[in-house]
Amino acid sequence: MTRLAHRITVITGAATGIGQATAHLFAEHGATVICADRNIDTLKATVEAIQDAGGQAQAHELDVSSEDAVKAFADAVRREHGHIDVLFNNAGIDQEGGKLHEYPTELFDQIISVDLRGTFLVSKYLIPLMLDNGGSIINVSSMSGLAADLDRSGYNAAKGGITNLTKAMAIDYGRHRIRVNGIAPGTIETPLVDSLAGEPDDDDGKKFRDAQTWVTPLGRLGKPREMASVALFLASDDSSFVTGETILADGGVMA
Ligand code: NAI
Repeated sequence: MTRLAHRITVITGAATGIGQATAHLFAEHGATVICADRNIDTLKATVEAIQDAGGQAQAHELDVSSEDAVKAFADAVRREHGHIDVLFNNAGIDQEGGKLHEYPTELFDQIISVDLRGTFLVSKYLIPLMLDNGGSIINVSSMSGLAADLDRSGYNAAKGGITNLTKAMAIDYGRHRIRVNGIAPGTIETPLVDSLAGEPDDDDGKKFRDAQTWVTPLGRLGKPREMASVALFLASDDSSFVTGETILADGGVMA
C-alpha cells in the first residue's frame, strides 16, 4: 500500500466528493497530501480524518479562480516543501443554465473561471515546482467534456477545454518528465450531483438516479473512491508511459 511513498501531492477541491476520496487514498499510499479548497471548514474536517487514520495531510484555503490566491498558495507550498510530485486538479462546479441564448453570462463566466481557468492557474503556478524532478498532473474533466448535455453549455465548454488542455500540457512538459493525464468521470455520487439533481430521497433526485442507472451498462452510479483509484494509477509509476490521455470512467455510458 505504498504506491506514493514520500510523494508530495497537491489536491484541489479536496473537502468533499472525488477530491476527498482521493486525498484519503493517496495518504493511505504514503503520500503527503496538501489539500486545497475554498470550503475551509469542511476541508479541515477531511484533513483531520486523514491524520486520525495515520496519514500526512494539511489544509489550505484556496479559491482556484483567483490568480493572486493561487500564486500565494504556490509560494507557501514552495517554502514548506520545495517541490511537488503530483498535482490533482479536481476543484469544480456545475450548474444547469438553460439553452445557450438564455444561458446567464455570469454563470458561464463562473463555471469557466473555476473549472477551466482554475485548472490553468493552479497548473501555471505549481508546474515550476515540478520542473527539476518531473511528476504527474491529473486534470478532472468529465464525460461532459467528451460529449455534450442538455442546458449545460458552460460546463460542456469548460470540461471540453480541460480535455484539450491536458493534451497541450502533456506536449509542453513531456521533456521535463511531467506526465499530464485526465479523468472523465461519469455520474458519481457526490455533493455536486446532489446539488445538480437533488438528494437521493427527493423525487427529482430519485428520478435522476433511476435514469442514470438505466443508461449505465454497469447498472449503478459511480463512487468517489472508484475515481480515486483511477487517479492513483495516473499519479503512480504504474502509468509511467501514459501521458496526454483522458481516461473515461463512466460505467460504460459512452461505450
Ligand atoms: P464536490 O462538489 O463534492 O467537490 C468539489 C469540490 O471543489 C468541493 O469541495 C468544493 O468546495 C471545491 N470547489 C468548488 N469551487 C472551488 C474553488 N473556486 N476553489 C477551490 N475549491 C473549489 O463535487 P465532485 O463531484 O467531487 O467534483 C469533483 C470534480 O469532478 C469536479 O471537477 C467535477 O466537475 C468533476 N466531475 C464530477 C462528476 C460527478 O458526477 N460527481 C462527473 C464528472 C466530473
